Amino acid sequence: MKRAVCPGSFDPITYGHLDIIERASAQFDEVIVAVGNNRTKEGYFTVEERMAMIAETTAKFGNVKVDSWKGLLGEYCKANNIDVIIKGLRAMSDFDYELQMAQVNLQGSGVESMFMATSPAHSFLSSSLIKELAHYDGDVSDMVPPVVNAALKAREAGK
Ligand code: PNS
Repeated sequence: MKRAVCPGSFDPITYGHLDIIERASAQFDEVIVAVGNNRTKEGYFTVEERMAMIAETTAKFGNVKVDSWKGLLGEYCKANNIDVIIKGLRAMSDFDYELQMAQVNLQGSGVESMFMATSPAHSFLSSSLIKELAHYDGDVSDMVPPVVNAALKAREAGK
């Protein structure tokens, strides 16, 4: 059984992430969407809130699980029999950082990374951009699933 991980902060999950997760789920027997939980500083959404939104929006794919991890991604992969790390590349600006991460994970833990090209419709999306738009009452309904849009609106209304 070939297992892949889609790691990230997912603060919050966007249609760009979901596109990569869906396409990865067609290529692997099982895909784990893993939320990095290393940060000392609080995110916009808690790790639990992010995981709940990921679980709700990926349930339809059938072979996607949600998890979180602390520490090195390569070690998490080895401990969980994950063969491949999948990362989406939006533009060349993502490449330098992702290449460095892939090389560290290969050399340090022997775990492969594979890159998927983000679909052009989503290449400008980022969680930070979405949080900024939501903060200024911008419309993000075509960038995030309805559950995330509602959570952003609720969080901003409560501030
Ligand atoms: O969504 P992001 O913020 O781009 O996700 C980055 C993440 C969490 C995937 C990356 O920071 C990561 O893999 N962190 C775990 C620590 C690690 O293994 N770093 C690489 C070796 S220094």
